[in-house]
Amino acid sequence: MDRHVSRRQVVRVAVVGTGVFVAGRYFTGRVAAAPPPLEQKDSYVVGFPQIVEDNPWRIAQSQSMRDEAAARGHELIYSVANNSEATQIANVRQLIAQQVDFIFLPPLSEEPLARAVLDAKAAGIPVLCVDRDVSHDIATPGEDYLGFIGSDFYQEGARAAAWLAQTMNGEAQIIQLEGTAGSSPAMDRGRGFADYLKGTYTPNPYNREGSATPVAATSGGFPGMEIVASQDGDFNRDKGREVFEALYDANPNANAVYGHNDEMALGAINALEARGKVPGTDVILVSIDGNRDALQSIVDGKLGASVECNPRFGPASFDILERYAAGEEIPTIIINPDRFFDASNAAEFVDEAY
Ligand code: AHR
Repeated sequence: MDRHVSRRQVVRVAVVGTGVFVAGRYFTGRVAAAPPPLEQKDSYVVGFPQIVEDNPWRIAQSQSMRDEAAARGHELIYSVANNSEATQIANVRQLIAQQVDFIFLPPLSEEPLARAVLDAKAAGIPVLCVDRDVSHDIATPGEDYLGFIGSDFYQEGARAAAWLAQTMNGEAQIIQLEGTAGSSPAMDRGRGFADYLKGTYTPNPYNREGSATPVAATSGGFPGMEIVASQDGDFNRDKGREVFEALYDANPNANAVYGHNDEMALGAINALEARGKVPGTDVILVSIDGNRDALQSIVDGKLGASVECNPRFGPASFDILERYAAGEEIPTIIINPDRFFDASNAAEFVDEAY
């Protein structure tokens, strides 16, 4: 399925209840065409089966969810899957067994975790995908789960490409460090970057109220901007460093790096320095997230720019839960406003970063 085309169809969730409530749980003899409803209560037990905690983005996301649950008097049941799809699926099933009221799911990858979403629906538990999405070929937003809240990963890739093309005057040999294979940010960040350089990028028609200036559509492209090597670095600093070392040794003329997240770009910076190269001069780097080390690296002149991907999901996620319980219509796609950090503003934001 072309995720870009599918996400154009921004449908709305009709919150209807055609089954019956038993002890706060929704049961129906047939598969409902809407996510399970949520009873209005003062306090909920919610599940948050995190993917991994090996980078500052994930740690900040978990902390935001915990803080917001505590501030609103809800109980958050937290688990971590250590980057294993099987473990994350098992953790969702554990939440189902515990009969939580609601699940905030950051799915490691799109297809395997879509099955877990269907399991939760069958058990009458509403799910909201936070920060990553599941495959719409398997689970339908607005029917099987509420939908997705997170960044526009496709635009993030295009924004990184726009900055790099301008900085490199349209000529670069680029090494791309990809995020976890099969995850929505890896797929969409890769495609947004490539489409922008090819001249085929068209912004998604999301409601961008409050969002940073969207990147304009391109035509003509940048034929001098060539991705010479690209490999999965699993969104991890050490893995990004290892992958970069192998790709750079095989492509010593590479003069630009696009990291699908900051951690992998920071790994590449370590590798460049170990080889006596000067990041920011010999090799220009751009990445995504806006974590504290990345902003400091921009201040230090090593990383060129970082497209923000905001991990602080707690307030918006719990707002959606409470609005859903109150019977409000919830959009199936909610896009977070994200900023852009470069040498012009990184120093201003480094202290508030995570
Ligand atoms: O899904 C968001 C991505 O996942 C972030 O960019 C990355 O750092 C994280 O692991």
